[in-house]
Amino acid sequence: MDLQTVFPRSPFSLNDRIMHYGRTHGLISWAIEIPIVSRGLPVSMPTCIIFHSYSGITRGIAEKIEKACGGRLIEVVPRKAYNKLTVYLAGGRRAMKGEADPVDPERIDVAACDLLVIGTPVWAGNPTPVINGAIAGLANCEGKSAVLFATCGVQAGKTLEVMTRALETKGVVVKASIVFSRKEIGDEKNVQELVDAVKTAQAAGP
Ligand SMILES: Cc1cc2nc3c(=O)[nH]c(=O)nc-3n(C[C@H](O)[C@H](O)[C@H](O)COP(=O)(O)O)c2cc1C
Repeated sequence: MDLQTVFPRSPFSLNDRIMHYGRTHGLISWAIEIPIVSRGLPVSMPTCIIFHSYSGITRGIAEKIEKACGGRLIEVVPRKAYNKLTVYLAGGRRAMKGEADPVDPERIDVAACDLLVIGTPVWAGNPTPVINGAIAGLANCEGKSAVLFATCGVQAGKTLEVMTRALETKGVVVKASIVFSRKEIGDEKNVQELVDAVKTAQAAGP
């Protein structure tokens, strides 16, 4: 098999395609890609910012955290994408039942990362089945610290408790968790509260 067959013509660079192939075939651990210095900010301990976002709001907050605190953004997506109909019918129902979707990346090895920041939208008062899938796929996370955040329309319901329980059963210690309702999202003061929580957790060490 030649290189063109494995990495056919695409708008992405050959390097991106090789990394994508490696990740999706389990050949490359996400952990080895975590930069120690991100955007010129010295990061005393590598931080993984793991998030799911259906309509972009949670992604926006995750990007602000990366910009302010450094670290590595890891977006988790469902293997089978939701659409406007299935997101409420299947997504909301699966979230309520605490189910986990098959996701990409399937396994996130956080061995080289001391702080996890995990963000999810709220679906039916719960974390999304996609972030449940991401938490289920965390490897080498025992003893790590985490800061959680959720974005919602009005109320987060059980979201942060459910995520905290799932992480604690994997040996992760949750240091802080913050909810952003729709009207709070645009207020930089609230984002700063999350940035401060992440910086405090980074400074505290593992
Ligand atoms: C299927 C579904 C269920 C939702 N359930 C809730 C809910 O129970 N409570 C709430 O306040 N917002 C709820 N929302 C609104 C989202 O949580 C909110 O818009 C979130 O910020 C979207 O994040 P995203 O843009 O990163 O996907 C729901 C949205 C969807 C699509």
